[in-house]
Amino acid sequence: MTKPLNIGLVGYGFMGRTHSNAYRTVNNFFTPGYHPVLKAVSARDAVKCQAFADQWGYESIETDWRKLVARKDIDAIDICTPNNLHKEIALAAAAHGKMVLCEKPLSMNTADGEEMADAVEKAGVANTVWYNYRRVPAVTLAKQIIDSGRMGKIFHYRANFLQDWTISADLPQGGAALWRLDAAAAGSGVTGDLLAHCIDTALWLNGGISNVTAMTETFIKERKHNLTGKVEKVEIDDACSFLCRFENGSLGLFESTRYARGHKALYTLEINGEHASMKWDLHDLHRLQYFDHKDEGIVRGWRSIHVSDSDHPYMKHWWVPGLQIGYEHTFIHHVADFLQSLTDGKPCAPTFREAIETQKVCDAVLASAKSNQWANV
Ligand SMILES: NC(=O)c1ccc[n+]([C@@H]2O[C@H](COP(=O)([O-])OP(=O)(O)OC[C@H]3O[C@@H](n4cnc5c(N)ncnc54)[C@H](O)[C@@H]3O)[C@@H](O)[C@H]2O)c1
Repeated sequence: MTKPLNIGLVGYGFMGRTHSNAYRTVNNFFTPGYHPVLKAVSARDAVKCQAFADQWGYESIETDWRKLVARKDIDAIDICTPNNLHKEIALAAAAHGKMVLCEKPLSMNTADGEEMADAVEKAGVANTVWYNYRRVPAVTLAKQIIDSGRMGKIFHYRANFLQDWTISADLPQGGAALWRLDAAAAGSGVTGDLLAHCIDTALWLNGGISNVTAMTETFIKERKHNLTGKVEKVEIDDACSFLCRFENGSLGLFESTRYARGHKALYTLEINGEHASMKWDLHDLHRLQYFDHKDEGIVRGWRSIHVSDSDHPYMKHWWVPGLQIGYEHTFIHHVADFLQSLTDGKPCAPTFREAIETQKVCDAVLASAKSNQWANV
């Protein structure tokens, strides 16, 4: 018999859907000792919220998240709102003794993240941040390969996250769907939105970052604001590139933009070590490209590992070898790991405390871009 875990979801947008799908699916494939119960969803518009609840199978709705976090029948609050609401909701949830699963980036800045981590730790509640790319089987495999020592010393780490959806100068900022262009709601532009993913994966795979030098650009300086109706200055970074040094002595190169015409969600990473190199691409997410210098010379070359075998991370839970899974499965893996962590009494990485490390790098990147100087993390 699995134990119920009553979920209270805040926000029913893109992430509200991926998480709800994960909660509904996880126990069909994993046996983590708990099963999520879709108890309630909260959003401001009662009609839309009820339609979402009906479609996804939530038992009830709340139009004020404060009521949701206070409900006695809720065990865990899942925060799927714009970034500026993460802290307030997380602090209130922790104060009510609820577990908290929070979307990334954890917070608007490091100081807020620390307050959030202190709050969940003081309350003694389980917590995790949805940096889901760690749980792409090919990325998890990259971690296993690095930890096995096959790469040897790491020299280089590079990552890109490229999109093209904000190129039009006519696109307004602010409000539903466009809050990412509004610094008051998002905190930053591509740095907190896209590079935060690249940084989390990098810290996990390659360890801490000690210092950074960055440049950012805001290509469209003014846009109409949907909430005020006025043309207002754009305060987010449209593009950001940075160089960094990792604590293990390797060099890093990161680039993100929403102005790379033709790219929708091109997250790529590459790691070059003493003995081997690896490459991964979100558009081909089930493959890990691997080059091993120890291979016999005549057959040495890049191999494309189709990460679908039962001895690959997470894959024994899915279909038969050779058959692929996709983006939505990263969230199912995260839920499975979170539920298993409750059974085992262990933290589910990244915890709030661990996710602050990404926040620190984002803050240093933005500070460096502003000052035109190297910044320590
Ligand atoms: N892990 C990932 O890969 C990933 C991908 C996309 C977004 N995100 C993160 O998830 C969060 C949400 O992003 P999204 O793409 O789902 O956004 P979205 O715009 O699709 O959805 C946001 C939701 O928040 C709700 N909301 C806004 N204000 C609210 C309030 N006061 N009370 C209750 N609900 C409110 C909106 O109604 C909407 O349902 C962000 O922090 C974002 O950075 C993570």
